[in-house]
Amino acid sequence: MGLPAACPLLLLLGALRYGSAQLVFSTVDFVERDACNTTVVLPCHVINLKEHNDSNMFVSWKKQGRVLFSFNGAEQRIYRHEMVPSANLLSQQDLSKGIASLKLKSSEAEDGNYSCEVTELNREGETKVDLRTVTVGSCGEENAPTPDNECGRQFDFMESVVISVLLFLIVIIYWAQLGVIALKCETVHKNKTYVAVGCAIFTVLAVIAVVLFVQGGNITISKVGLGFVVLPAVILMVLQYYIFKIVLVDVTRKGYVLIGLQFFGFIIALVGFALCISACPPELLSVVIAGLAVMAVEDLLALLYMYTSCSRMKDHQTPRKAVEEPLNAIKTETESTAEMSDG
Ligand SMILES: *[C@@H]1O[C@H](CO)[C@@H](O)[C@H](O)[C@H]1NC(C)=O
Ligand SMILES: *[C@@H]1O[C@H](CO)[C@@H](O)[C@H](O)[C@H]1NC(C)=O
Repeated sequence: MGLPAACPLLLLLGALRYGSAQLVFSTVDFVERDACNTTVVLPCHVINLKEHNDSNMFVSWKKQGRVLFSFNGAEQRIYRHEMVPSANLLSQQDLSKGIASLKLKSSEAEDGNYSCEVTELNREGETKVDLRTVTVGSCGEENAPTPDNECGRQFDFMESVVISVLLFLIVIIYWAQLGVIALKCETVHKNKTYVAVGCAIFTVLAVIAVVLFVQGGNITISKVGLGFVVLPAVILMVLQYYIFKIVLVDVTRKGYVLIGLQFFGFIIALVGFALCISACPPELLSVVIAGLAVMAVEDLLALLYMYTSCSRMKDHQTPRKAVEEPLNAIKTETESTAEMSDG
């Protein structure tokens, strides 16, 4: 982006060439806007004002010879062409410092060369700036932002795919946890229906989320989809708690650490979601990805934990039975010795 980085020497030469009657500008060849600019600022900086008093000044912004906006300092009067009803000086206070930049709605500003003419008493000068529209990110040419469209761009496709994959991975691992409990923890007779129903609800939400999220048309629907990806993850923490409770009876410290990790991932994803819906361009999908990745890792660790816990139970039956067994053995032993002594 062209910035007011004009070389002082050139400015000096310019001032000498034009003589003292010329106003000199810090030049910006062009400015760029994309679909995320709701307003645009066309820069116009005079660097050699003498009076520093806006009542001695006259500013006129033109495009193709047509006056779009003017400010008459003596009368403190503003003229706006009907095409640009939102046009205004960036800051009227700063005009006396030489800043005659024009601010207007992006939708009212067509691409092209705008000229800024400033007069201070008998001195005057003109500068030009080319307003250009750039397409950003993954916007294809056909998605070229219309100026009215606050945020015409879509989420990055690859990032959307990664998010969808992570979400399905999380869902699959949850079902795997339930599978492990059903197959390996035969000793667990607690009702698993609620957990299965919770998992099913989450699965349905995840499918809806991904469909809304990756549909290529509308950024607003994609954002709603992202909400469906992130918010129902609350259910996951509850499910995880009940899964631990079914298998471990009392949730262990390890279990709480895992749930804590999941909560941490959820908070990251939530922050990412908040940033995504508020920011334009929505570049922060990576934060949501990080949050989901933490949750997926937690999920995987929980699966391993459930697998080892259930395997151990299968080998030694439930911990309670393992404790009860030697007791029973002692009991039967004492009973049999008692019988023997009786006999
Ligand atoms: C568009 O927005 C960007 C980022 O906020 C800004 O740097 C740029 O100057 C804006 N473009 C115009 C023409 O105002
Ligand atoms: C604006 O002017 C520059 C040079 O003065 C020219 O190269 C450019 O094509 C013009 N832009 C438009 C959109 O006419």
